[in-house]
Amino acid sequence: MRVFEALISDLAISFLDRISKNVHDYLFANQKIEKICGCKDFFPSEDRFLSLKDELNKPEGFYMAEDRGEYGDFQTNMPLSKAVTQVLLKKNIVPDVVIEPTCGKGNFILAALQSFPSVKRVIGIEIYEPYVWQCKFNILDYFLSHPDANKPSIQIHRFNVFGFDFLELKKQIQDSNILIIGNPPWVTNSMLGALESDNLPQKSNFKKKRGLDAITGKGNFDIAEYIVVSLIRLFEKCNGWLSLLVKNSVIKNIVYEQHNNHFWISDIEEMNIDSKKEFDVSVEASLLFCQFGKHSSQQCQVTDFYSGSIINKFGWKESFFYSDINADGLFGNIDGKCQLEWRQGIKHDCSKVMELEQNGSGYRNKLNENVDLEEDLVYGLLKSSDLKTIVAVRPKKFTIVTQQRIGQNTDYIANYPCTYAYLRNHLDLFRNRKSTIYKGNPDFSIFGIGEYSFKPFKVAVSGLYKTFHFTLVLPDKKPVMLDDTCYFLGFDDLISAVAIHTLLNSDVVESFLQSITFSDAKRMITKDALMRIDLRRVLDIVNSETIVKQANTTIMSMGEKMEMVFDDFYSAVNQKNLQLELF
Ligand SMILES: C[S@@+](CC[C@H](N)C(=O)[O-])C[C@H]1O[C@@H](n2cnc3c(N)ncnc32)[C@H](O)[C@@H]1O
Repeated sequence: MRVFEALISDLAISFLDRISKNVHDYLFANQKIEKICGCKDFFPSEDRFLSLKDELNKPEGFYMAEDRGEYGDFQTNMPLSKAVTQVLLKKNIVPDVVIEPTCGKGNFILAALQSFPSVKRVIGIEIYEPYVWQCKFNILDYFLSHPDANKPSIQIHRFNVFGFDFLELKKQIQDSNILIIGNPPWVTNSMLGALESDNLPQKSNFKKKRGLDAITGKGNFDIAEYIVVSLIRLFEKCNGWLSLLVKNSVIKNIVYEQHNNHFWISDIEEMNIDSKKEFDVSVEASLLFCQFGKHSSQQCQVTDFYSGSIINKFGWKESFFYSDINADGLFGNIDGKCQLEWRQGIKHDCSKVMELEQNGSGYRNKLNENVDLEEDLVYGLLKSSDLKTIVAVRPKKFTIVTQQRIGQNTDYIANYPCTYAYLRNHLDLFRNRKSTIYKGNPDFSIFGIGEYSFKPFKVAVSGLYKTFHFTLVLPDKKPVMLDDTCYFLGFDDLISAVAIHTLLNSDVVESFLQSITFSDAKRMITKDALMRIDLRRVLDIVNSETIVKQANTTIMSMGEKMEMVFDDFYSAVNQKNLQLELF
């Protein structure tokens, strides 16, 4: 049966039924209930107590589950909640106070009540009223069926976690051993923006990203990350532990920021769970564990939640951040600053108009329209999926490069009447682009464009794929562009491009990238990671014979006419000129 939209057991119903028939004052009812289950202020108001009677007499109606996307609602099942408290017990954790910051239906609270018999106080916070009731009913049911169990003082607050007075709570409990346990909402601030939800902390740019970074997503964050960081900031110097289920990206960010924050958290551990099995979602998630109040650690041990086996350790070593600190390789030797500037490909957010395929002598766009264009502004376009080969030769797609540099006035396009007419016909699609980077910029603006985009030879890599494979991009009569899922280096001559392409595909770069990137990140390869490759040091490590051999394979795959280039390349490496010419 459901009461206040929450499921309630027969045991709890008959108990509440008796209370509602025999007791007329809600404060007295609250006292009785607190005696049974330790739960304070069970009925927050007289009104709620009076409506209980109606609810109990109501025939069970049709129950319609609310769409709870904006609340990142993934309730933790009881076996997993219990398994988490068992893991904590194995670590000899004995809390006096348990805090569940977004307690939902309360499975973590129940697991804590069962696993930590010495706990004296429990505080749960939850925004959604039916869950608050569900949590209270579950607690009541537990103590009705376990009357001899230890009864701590329990408060389940219906409250927004972003407005809850944790500071006041801290004053009351700071001498206790505190355990923060739970599973904060799985939702990002940008998802909430899309849902037009206000379930956000007030200071939503908490990453303090400015300008383009804030606009293009670097300021995007998980609500869970905000909650975890706020709790760590507040409780770092107390005695206690934090044990929360979160996405791996949240843990990575917290450990990454430790370099600046120096929070007093130690024994940091990421215990990987199977979120498909537990929550039926395809997200890499783990139990984040750490201890408060001892010292500040900047490394995180990764283990398997179920078996406890050690997977790896990530975090800071000296002044570098690694996804696998103990990776066996020479990566330390090439970690530095890339001598060349990595660039991201073109961003236009208007693929319906800007992505074209050749159709006879003209083009066809993604709206299935046949398009006639002057060739001047049309360039070949490669996407991540085109970067699987060693050499990319003929692009299948094309794009219109409307600017040669960011912010350039686009009125000049009128000199190309067909192109201009085509773009103007779709002006509404350009003007409706969501990203604010286009606001206040000329019509048809693009980003990720500059002198570097027009370099004839490129070495490119996809940011989306889970491989470390670099592709040599050759011109197709004119330079070929890459889309914004790709990163590249541009070159004026083929020899330099082939040399760098060879270096980047070496084992040493692969193992280095493996040790600094996270395979569960949306973009595994980022500009920041690529900028850490010190090409000069790679050149020192990879011997010239290997370079020539690899380069040979690359050049051969382009066809015989490259033989002369190979000879040039070979002599350049042999004369040890390469290093000088490249850097
Ligand atoms: C991922 S669920 C986990 C619930 C519970 N901790 C568990 O492990 O089963 C996240 C919970 O956070 C609650 N929530 C979302 N936004 C909240 C807010 N601003 N304040 C308090 N609770 C919130 C949701 O209603 C939901 O119950």
